[in-house]
Amino acid sequence: MGLVLWNWFFLLLTLVSSSWSLNSEGLALLALSKNLILPSSIISSWNASHRTPCEWHGVRCDRKTNVFSLDLSSSGVSGSLGPQIGLLKYLVVISLPNNNISGPIPPELGNCSMLDQLDLSENSLSGQIPESLGNLKRLSSLALYNNSLDGEIPEGLFKNQFLQDVYLHSNNLSGYIPSSVGEMTSLRKLWLHENALSGVLPDSIGNCTKLEELYLLDNRLSGSLPKTLSHISGLKILDATGNSLTGEIDIHFENCKLETFILSFNQLRGEIPSWLGNCSSLTDLALVDNSFSGQIPASLGQLSNLTYLLLSQNSLSGPIPSEIW
Ligand SMILES: *[C@@H]1O[C@H](CO)[C@@H](O)[C@H](O)[C@H]1NC(C)=O
Ligand SMILES: *[C@@H]1O[C@H](CO)[C@@H](O)[C@H](O)[C@H]1NC(C)=O
Ligand SMILES: *[C@@H]1O[C@H](CO)[C@@H](O)[C@H](O)[C@H]1NC(C)=O
Ligand SMILES: *[C@@H]1O[C@H](CO)[C@@H](O)[C@H](O)[C@H]1NC(C)=O
Ligand SMILES: *[C@@H]1O[C@H](CO)[C@@H](O)[C@H](O)[C@H]1NC(C)=O
Ligand SMILES: *[C@@H]1O[C@H](CO)[C@@H](O)[C@H](O)[C@H]1NC(C)=O
Ligand SMILES: *[C@@H]1O[C@H](CO)[C@@H](O)[C@H](O)[C@H]1NC(C)=O
Ligand SMILES: *[C@@H]1O[C@H](CO)[C@@H](O)[C@H](O)[C@H]1NC(C)=O
Repeated sequence: MGLVLWNWFFLLLTLVSSSWSLNSEGLALLALSKNLILPSSIISSWNASHRTPCEWHGVRCDRKTNVFSLDLSSSGVSGSLGPQIGLLKYLVVISLPNNNISGPIPPELGNCSMLDQLDLSENSLSGQIPESLGNLKRLSSLALYNNSLDGEIPEGLFKNQFLQDVYLHSNNLSGYIPSSVGEMTSLRKLWLHENALSGVLPDSIGNCTKLEELYLLDNRLSGSLPKTLSHISGLKILDATGNSLTGEIDIHFENCKLETFILSFNQLRGEIPSWLGNCSSLTDLALVDNSFSGQIPASLGQLSNLTYLLLSQNSLSGPIPSEIW
């Protein structure tokens, strides 16, 4: 009998206290705001007397009052992102771009396993991309560009069949492009430019058959472009300017959709492929400062939408085909 009463007492206590105290996600957000410095206009709405954080600026909840979105883009946020972010396990969207957040990306972020969109771009984040981000198997959009991230891209990050948009450009990433890149079978955009990536573009890239935009410029990539690129029939943009690519252009697009094809400032050789003349959407073609030889293919004259044709600093010979005029 005493035990039953005791239990009732605790139940009552829990009910009463839950009617005035902040829930665990609200507490996690308040703990986060100890390191993540929010401007006063925002933090003033993060009221510890509320029962849920659902009305707080930048916070959105689902119908069960779980926090599913933290959106503070371009809001003058500074400080660092603490491990408490991993406690918000219903987060689907984290959007903190264009702020002044510094320090590392906490590995605990990999606990937010429902995440669909992660945007930490245009901040001052440093250190490595945590391997635990490879646990975010539902991620479809990953934006970490324009930070000071270094180290290698974790192999596990690309083991993800839902990732569509990957923006890792303008950092200081080094090492190889992981061959797991071919596991991103939904990939549409892969922006890796302005880093210090080395080695070859892996053959497995050919598995990314939905890829449309591949930016590799200003890295240290070497070797030749993999033949398997030819499997990516919808590729619109390939820009690998300013690497150390060698060999011939040994790719060929059957039903070419290319709009931009730029391989300037590499060590490529051989002839300019005549199939480029079948890429009727091509607007930008640049192969400056390589070792291309032979003649300029007359087929380029069919490219009625071509706006930029830059072929200087090569070993080309023969006349400029009259078709080009
Ligand atoms: C915080 O919320 C409580 C309860 O809703 C309210 O009485 C109080 O005025 C709020 N404080 C601020 C600073 O908005
Ligand atoms: C960014 O934060 C640093 C300190 O971490 C500070 O010196 C700098 O002024 C801030 N920049 C802006 C634009 O707020
Ligand atoms: C959260 O992430 C950290 C670091 O990745 C890990 O050690 C910890 O076990 C995780 N916690 C939970 C509850 O999954
Ligand atoms: C990166 O961010 C800095 C500072 O916010 C800005 O000045 C610069 O233009 C950005 N660079 C790119 C490539 O977006
Ligand atoms: C990039 O990393 C290298 C070492 O890996 C370092 O020497 C260099 O200063 C870094 N550059 C920037 C812009 O952080
Ligand atoms: C990915 O590409 C590699 C190399 O081209 C190939 O051996 C492998 O079977 C492909 N994997 C999948 C899952 O398609
Ligand atoms: C260009 O397309 C035509 C018609 O589809 C085809 O016959 C020809 O072989 C193609 N040329 C090259 C160089 O791929
Ligand atoms: C050429 O450009 C025009 C105008 O931008 C566009 O409507 C047309 O579809 C383009 N042609 C091809 C083959 O992409």
